Amino acid sequence: MSALQSLETEILAAIGAAADESALDAVRVAALGKKGSISDLLKTLGGMTAAERKENGPLFNGVRDRVSEAIAQRKRALADLALDARLNLERVDVTLPARPLAQGTVHPISQVLDEVTAIFADLGFAVAEGPDVEYDDYNFTKLNIPPDHPARQMHDTFYLAPQADGARHVLRTHTSPVQVRTMLTQKPPIRVIAPGRTYRVDNDATHSPMFHQIEALVIDENTHLGHLKWVVEEFCKAFFEIESVELRGRPSFFPFTEPSVEWDLRCDRSVAGRIEFGRGNDWLELGGSGMVHPNVLAMCGVDASRYQGFAFGLGLDRLAMLKYGAPDLRPFFDGDLRWLKHFGFTAFDVPTLDAGLSR
Ligand code: PHE
Repeated sequence: MSALQSLETEILAAIGAAADESALDAVRVAALGKKGSISDLLKTLGGMTAAERKENGPLFNGVRDRVSEAIAQRKRALADLALDARLNLERVDVTLPARPLAQGTVHPISQVLDEVTAIFADLGFAVAEGPDVEYDDYNFTKLNIPPDHPARQMHDTFYLAPQADGARHVLRTHTSPVQVRTMLTQKPPIRVIAPGRTYRVDNDATHSPMFHQIEALVIDENTHLGHLKWVVEEFCKAFFEIESVELRGRPSFFPFTEPSVEWDLRCDRSVAGRIEFGRGNDWLELGGSGMVHPNVLAMCGVDASRYQGFAFGLGLDRLAMLKYGAPDLRPFFDGDLRWLKHFGFTAFDVPTLDAGLSR
């Protein structure tokens, strides 16, 4: 083996043996640096005759090129090795329990909405939805409230600008139009709840122009008032997490139900700032309900001679205020971070019936 070949072999072996980037760099300096072995070799070309140079030039340059290439290759390999080592070292165990982030909270309305949905899901209800901007027809007419009906004045309605044909959309004044949408698209038996935003021209400590309701609709062949009362009762027990409740039904009027009943829940408010359910001499208004009016069934394409059912509507915001002790409705929608921090829930606290609705 010529001296040149053994030099090359030696350098290539050193490159292969370099265990990290600094060792590799030392090999590079020793071979290709200013005073490196290959650089020295190349310098000797200057003292050679033209014939010698012609013979040795390509040989020397070949060695230099192969050594440079080998160094570059080794460098890439070392970088890969270093990355693998780091990945091994910095492995994260994704099965470890998560630590809840202190940033951000779930709004009490969202929390209550999840709680209510879990309760009704357990009772076999599906969730139905409708838009906030609703047809006048669905919000009123198909609910047995024709254009000149005085009941329209009960709802201080936000109207949108008239369409070309004069019809006006409204911001839905209740979640009852979702009853209409459900009956128009589903065949009985129907068992749905419809939580959502509703709007009325109203603004004080207990009323906000935007508020939340939860609607329930059950349509089947033999559904009756007893079922209605049972569902409201089961809901209250589950929601307020108490063994028993007492409900009082008061006759009422809604154009879309007949008969109509408003439900009150027995409670105790004798201790200031506290409310307890299931006992006491006070009554808390829950919301309106009734048997769906046959006119409504007919207008929504349900055979009223075969099917009947009930509906009710509860105020979601008030449920949240009662359960979580918020005295004023307005801050619910102010977006004040301090209020949200105080009344909000952690995102990991998902309400389920088996784990407990609220902890
Ligand atoms: N939509 C009625 C309201 O907002 C409540 C209600 C719902 C009454 C369903 C009867 C049946 O006041």
